[in-house]
Amino acid sequence: MSTSSAHMTTSEFNNENLAPLFSSEKIQARIGEMGAEIARDYKDKNPLLIVVLKGACIFASDLLRAIDLKLGIEFMAISSYGASTRTSGEVRIVKDLDVPIEGRDILVVEDIVDTGLTLSYLMENLRSRGASSVKLAALLDKHERRQREVAIDYLGFGIPDEFVVGYGLDFAERYRNLPYIAILKNPEVQ
Ligand code: IMP
Repeated sequence: MSTSSAHMTTSEFNNENLAPLFSSEKIQARIGEMGAEIARDYKDKNPLLIVVLKGACIFASDLLRAIDLKLGIEFMAISSYGASTRTSGEVRIVKDLDVPIEGRDILVVEDIVDTGLTLSYLMENLRSRGASSVKLAALLDKHERRQREVAIDYLGFGIPDEFVVGYGLDFAERYRNLPYIAILKNPEVQ
């Protein structure tokens, strides 16, 4: 019997609301290249990677292992002030660094740069703390949506103006565990 329900899947990783964009193999290959480039640029330095929670944690865990250097990692969590943040650019540090960064070479690790409001705030904030250098590694760049310019020093992939999930990126906390990156076709569908 071929009803539409017979084709429905209950798989979280392979459901009909997800349109695959980057496979896990493609992500790993690109991260390998990024890691090699970072290792070359920071040769003889001891960079401190600052991972922006929560979205960047999966990307960061793979990127770290692709950088053949002595390095450190720290975590920060940033939050927006309610729904108006998207346009106001007001952001708040929810979890700050546990260490001073004066004189350190900082590499911020972020999942996606969208409007750029969060990152422009964060990069400026870190620079004001006296770091020697502050650079950015981002897995995805949704450049069409940019409101504030942010220089991405190491970029995984540019993407179109679509809402994406997986590999750390969520929709209402769902899909972070997806091993690949997909376009969420209809966010209304649960
Ligand atoms: P920005 O300040 O607009 O650049 O926002 C960046 C943050 O918005 C990212 O760290 C993500 O948490 C979130 N975000 C933006 N676009 C997407 C998306 O397509 N999927 C999931 N999260 C997104």
